[in-house]
Amino acid sequence: MIPIADQRQFITAHLDDLGRWLDLPDLSGYATQLERSDLKQTVEAAVAEVDFFRTKQWDSLLRLGLYRFTQYSLVRALVATTVIETGVLHGLSSIFLLQALLDDGAAGCLISIDAPSTQGDGPANDDGFVELLPPGLGAGWIVPPAHRACWDLHIGRSTDLLPGILGQRESLDLFVHDSEHTPHTMLFEFETAWPALRPGGVLLADNIDTNTAFFDFARQVSRQPHILPVDPDHYTPGGSGIRFGILRK
Ligand SMILES: C[S@@+](CC[C@H](N)C(=O)[O-])C[C@H]1O[C@@H](n2cnc3c(N)ncnc32)[C@H](O)[C@@H]1O
Repeated sequence: MIPIADQRQFITAHLDDLGRWLDLPDLSGYATQLERSDLKQTVEAAVAEVDFFRTKQWDSLLRLGLYRFTQYSLVRALVATTVIETGVLHGLSSIFLLQALLDDGAAGCLISIDAPSTQGDGPANDDGFVELLPPGLGAGWIVPPAHRACWDLHIGRSTDLLPGILGQRESLDLFVHDSEHTPHTMLFEFETAWPALRPGGVLLADNIDTNTAFFDFARQVSRQPHILPVDPDHYTPGGSGIRFGILRK
């Protein structure tokens, strides 16, 4: 593992770059607030009794990575009131998004969609992702009761549920794709969510190096994407080094 000071510098530098690109000031300031919060203890308490989840403690919340710190900082900077994410699994991203909505005080809500990957049925994904929920636990099991006040979790495939959910919303501040990384599902989600995003709203997609869908969609809507890297601790020689991408409407 790299020293925590280097991880902090990595996250800060990328959030400062992203903030300049989006013209959203002080994204890294929100990350600093998050690092100093008690979210690390909240997550540690949630996983403490679950044997399946092997990492029980972290020396810093920063170890959970640039991706989740970006999600938190974007919600804060956008003063988001409506956020939709696809792909929940344990709920780690959900808890970062919900924490941001709580800290913002803007009465925002998170809508999440997940087709669960259970021990009994195996992975819901058709993209090679094989991580499963712990035995007996449901999607988003990490999210504690205090974070659930404005969390609307829908169980099912995004291709079935997203159009109906979006049909009930006036405007969306942030859309996060992290469900099934097949070209079909990615393009379906992007093409469905984009019209619902408000001007200046943000589309964030994880694992964009899996196929060309994110880049194809960026061309389709004539937007230049901002690309962010994998954390140094997860860098693999020969890999693309790319983790997630952002488009602004
Ligand atoms: C990569 S995990 C999500 C991880 C989570 N976003 C995080 O960062 O903590 C992908 C999740 O999407 C679910 N999933 C797979 N295909 C799906 C689909 N078509 N629609 C919705 N969820 C799906 C999987 O079961 C799994 O729970």
